[in-house]
Amino acid sequence: MMLHAGYQRGKGAFLIFAAALAAAAAFPAAGMDLPEGPGRQATIRVCGKCHSPEKGTSLRQSRDEWAAEVSKMIEMGAQGSDEDFNMILDYLAKNFGPQSPRPINMNTATAVQLESRLTLTKTEAAALLRYRAEKGEFKSIDDLKNVPGLDFKKIEARKSRIVF
Ligand code: HEC
Repeated sequence: MMLHAGYQRGKGAFLIFAAALAAAAAFPAAGMDLPEGPGRQATIRVCGKCHSPEKGTSLRQSRDEWAAEVSKMIEMGAQGSDEDFNMILDYLAKNFGPQSPRPINMNTATAVQLESRLTLTKTEAAALLRYRAEKGEFKSIDDLKNVPGLDFKKIEARKSRIVF
């Protein structure tokens, strides 16, 4: 009996481990820059299934608007318990309200936004736009390392403000 119970426990732990691996594989560095606080883990777990959790938190809006967004995602197939969704809504409303700075989407940002919000020089911003036009969308922060003449340290210092 003891052996059997031990086996079951071991199997449960393995399944959790496997699920964690699968989730990690989908979005390698997902959620790394999301602010700490209650609801963060639930947001990464539930809202990081179909797109990155950063994309899920890329809007800046009121609690009511976030509630509507979460309902929309549930209709689209987001799965979690009521408790998960309550915690997620609290987390989103607290950390991503209308007053918090909007993230910069590196695939749509203009030269002016890159200069003013990421402190790039005119030359760096132009190089980034040229690279983007030639090579297509950036997928992750690592892709920015390939932009010729761009001081990557500037990007790294503000990585919590950028999305893809
Ligand atoms: C079942 C899949 C699925 C899950 C889970 C999911 N979403 Fe989405 N979400 C989508 C799809 C599909 C889109 C539209 C396409 C896109 O932007 O990738 C989207 C888009 C978004 C957008 C718009 C992004 C933009 O650029 O305008 C936000 C915000 C968002 N989701 C938030 C959330 C939040 C918050 C959660 C967790 C409660 C969540 N999503 C969970 C499927 C999902």
